[in-house]
Amino acid sequence: MKLITAVVRPERVGQVKEALFRAGISGLTLSRVSGHGGEQEIVEHYRGTQVMIEFREKVEFRMAVSDAFAEAAIRAICEGARTGEVGDGKIFVQPLERVVRIRTGEEDGAALTPVTERQLTPVAVGGAG
Ligand SMILES: Nc1ncnc2c1ncn2[C@@H]1O[C@H](COP(=O)(O)OP(=O)(O)OP(=O)(O)O)[C@@H](O)[C@H]1O
Ligand SMILES: [Mg+2]
Repeated sequence: MKLITAVVRPERVGQVKEALFRAGISGLTLSRVSGHGGEQEIVEHYRGTQVMIEFREKVEFRMAVSDAFAEAAIRAICEGARTGEVGDGKIFVQPLERVVRIRTGEEDGAALTPVTERQLTPVAVGGAG
């Protein structure tokens, strides 16, 4: 299992979500973050040179996926997030030790398997149909 964290431009969130859903990934967490990339803005001051760090609004996606879905997730994020300009963002991939679905106690692969609405809706007994 992998934990994939991706920092992307806020205006690309919709496209990243769509690409992920098309790739079969629906379990994810989104946060608004501020961040800074690899560039260093040099500012000249009268007493020497200082490096200034400016933070920009970004959105962070986090998703736990089985190994089989990791490459598809990375491809989908790149496809949805890339403009080709600096600041498109970054993807971090970490090994993931354990996942627990709280409702059922299922773990790991079973906990990551999507659950459909149909499986969750209690079967109606009688009623007006
Ligand atoms: N090494 C890093 N560690 C943690 N977060 C990072 C790192 N690099 C980038 N980020 C996050 O990703 C956001 C976007 O980074 P950005 O796309 O500018 O990366 P970059 O390496 O500068 O690439 P580019 O040259 O395309 O701009 C940053 O605002 C920050 O939130
Ligand atoms: Mg950058």
